[in-house]
Amino acid sequence: MKVKIIISTLITSAFGIFLYLTVTAPKSLAVLDYSAETSDLSNGEYIFTAAGCSGCHIEEGSKDKYLLAGGQKFETAFGTFKAPNISNSVEFGIGAWEFKDFYNALKLGQSPDGEHYFPTFPYTAYSKMTDQDIMDLWTFWKTLPSSDAFISDHDLPFLFSSRRNIGVWKTLYMSDKFVSSEVDRGTYLVEALSHCAECHSPRNILGALKFSEWLEGAQDPSGKGRIPGISTEKLAWTGDEIIEYLSSGFTPDYDVAGGKMASVVENTSKLSAADRSSIAQYLLRVK
Ligand code: HEC
Ligand code: HEC
Repeated sequence: MKVKIIISTLITSAFGIFLYLTVTAPKSLAVLDYSAETSDLSNGEYIFTAAGCSGCHIEEGSKDKYLLAGGQKFETAFGTFKAPNISNSVEFGIGAWEFKDFYNALKLGQSPDGEHYFPTFPYTAYSKMTDQDIMDLWTFWKTLPSSDAFISDHDLPFLFSSRRNIGVWKTLYMSDKFVSSEVDRGTYLVEALSHCAECHSPRNILGALKFSEWLEGAQDPSGKGRIPGISTEKLAWTGDEIIEYLSSGFTPDYDVAGGKMASVVENTSKLSAADRSSIAQYLLRVK
């Protein structure tokens, strides 16, 4: 009897370990040929703005949105993350990367060494970007300056510091499907590029966005304060009011966008009027 129990426990644990290793294994890297001739530099700059890469990757307080020296801290329930230096420095940034490394970082949330990135880097949104936009963004990237800032590693408690475990998280929560069933330009801008939900949607206990409460407002990840809901029911602004806010930062009560939203508005103000209108249309149809 005892032997049977031992054998079945061993089999179950072996199966458990096998399952863990399979689920957490890095994916094989996707290959996409880069072609400078078929990529569009000015669209790359536009995507850079729409995707808000510099908001997290410039130094705290820096005004130079092209110097991606890193160092900003993000306090979360899982520890303090630090944005890495992703400038073109070969030694301190990603200057030695090839296009495929950049592509897999955004598409799979995976490093050139096959390690999982932590989802504080909003690749769950960026993975929905089109191949062409990623290629254009890379073309623009290569024109950016380099910084020799050394950024030390994240400050995470032991339980949450394993990159391997993020494989489980990705299996549970990373999806290539959009939340809105209507996939148009507004959906692409909000869900793939501008990652509005990263701040405006509540998260579950494992830090994943709750699709069922999409854009309904959330606790600030640092634990201090609340971020307002922007679904139709929560916001109750007209399309023109949303467009005005995304252009100038002014609310219908002549208040002005503050906190982290200020840098988001800096980006949305540079988008085309048609794109701001698409974002507004999206917000008007999200319940
Ligand atoms: C919300 C903040 C945030 C935004 C916005 C953001 N990142 Fe990051 N990024 C991070 C963090 C945090 C990490 C570190 C992840 C880790 O260590 O697992 C990171 C890591 C990276 C890395 C990996 C660097 C390395 O040394 O391995 C690349 C490349 C990158 N980001 C590119 C981008 C690009 C391109 C954009 C815009 C399309 C972007 N990031 C937008 C926070 C952000
Ligand atoms: C980095 C976090 C962050 C991101 C990303 C973000 N927001 Fe915000 N948003 C905020 C914060 C914080 C506020 C509150 C601003 C304030 O108090 O002035 C806010 C306020 C707003 C408001 C005003 C709501 C109100 O009731 O006053 C709107 C509308 C809005 N955001 C839309 C968007 C859209 C659309 C996107 C994507 C294009 C977006 N936000 C992306 C953090 C963010």
